[in-house]
Amino acid sequence: MKVIKKTHQMQIISDKLRMQGKTIGFVPTMGALHQAHIELIKRARKQNDIVIVSIFVNPLQFGPKEDYNKYPRPIKQDLKICRNEKVDYVFYPPVDEMYPKDGNLTFVEVTKLEDILCGKYRSGHFRGVATVVSKLFNIVKPHNAYFGEKDYQQLKIIERMVNDLNFDVKIIPVPTVRDIDGLAYSSRNLYLSDKERSVASSLYKSLVFCKELIQQKKYTLKQCIQKSKKYLDTLLSSVEHKIQYFEIYDNDLNPVPQNLKEIPSGKRIRIFVAVFIGNTRLIDNIEVTV
Ligand code: PAJ
Repeated sequence: MKVIKKTHQMQIISDKLRMQGKTIGFVPTMGALHQAHIELIKRARKQNDIVIVSIFVNPLQFGPKEDYNKYPRPIKQDLKICRNEKVDYVFYPPVDEMYPKDGNLTFVEVTKLEDILCGKYRSGHFRGVATVVSKLFNIVKPHNAYFGEKDYQQLKIIERMVNDLNFDVKIIPVPTVRDIDGLAYSSRNLYLSDKERSVASSLYKSLVFCKELIQQKKYTLKQCIQKSKKYLDTLLSSVEHKIQYFEIYDNDLNPVPQNLKEIPSGKRIRIFVAVFIGNTRLIDNIEVTV
C-alpha cells in the first residue's frame, strides 16, 4: 500500500493505471475510519482492480463554530485499517496541497438540494463537500466512487453534481451500516460520553417508530412526525439534547404530500433526523415503502 501526499503524483499514478486498463474504485473519507468506511472499502475491493481511499479533513465543509479542529485524526490506525483491507493507495494530502494559501476562488454548488435538511442548518457545508469531491475526482480519476446512505443528502448532491457537470465516474450508494443497537456508525460517535452513547440508538428507534406509524396509514405525515419527535424526546430525556429536524422527503429529496392517501402505494420515501446529543450532532435516515 502506498501513501500519496501530492496531488500531481496521485494524478500521474491514476493516469498510468487507467492506461493499463485497470478499473479504479475510490472511497473518499475524512478518516477516523470505522466499520462503515470498511464496508465501503470492501465494496470497492470487490468491484475494482485498484482501490484508492482518500483521508482528508476538509476545512471547507466545516462552519466557523463547528468541530474542524477537534475532528479525530488517528492516522496510524487508519492506515493500518486500509492495509488490512488491501487498499492499494491512500491519498492523504496536507491542507496546503488541496487549497491555495489565499483560499479557493472556484466552488461547486448544487443549488436547491443544499437548501433543505442539513444544508439549512450548516450554511456552506455542501458547497464545501461538492467542491472537495469534485477536486478529489479530478485528482484520483476513479471509475467508481462509493458513498454511504447515512449521509443521504450528500449522496444525492454528489449524484446530481456528477450528472450536471458530466463527471466520468459512477456513484455507488452503500446502505447505512449500524452498530448492534441500531446506531449508525459515525466518526462523531467518538465524541459521545458513555451515558450519551447508551441512548444514542434512540435516533434509529424513532425512525423505525415513525416508519411503523406511516405504514399503519392512520395518521397524516405531520402527525407521524409529531408523535415520533415526542417519542424521541422521551428516549433522550436522561441526556441534554435538541432535535434539529425530523422531516420526510421522497428518495429524490422532493417534498411529499401530507395526506398519505395522496402518495401512490409502493412509493419509497425517506425519514430524516438530526439531533444534538450534548454538543455532538448526529444524523440518520431510513427508507419507508408506503
Ligand atoms: P466521512 O464522514 O468520513 O464519510 C466517508 C463516507 O463514509 C461517506 O460516503 C459516508 O456517507 C460514509 N459513511 C459514514 N458513516 C456511514 C454509515 N454508518 N453507513 C454507511 N456509510 C457511512 O462524508 C464524508 O466523510 C465527507 O463529507 C467526504 C465525502 C469525504 C468529503 O469530504
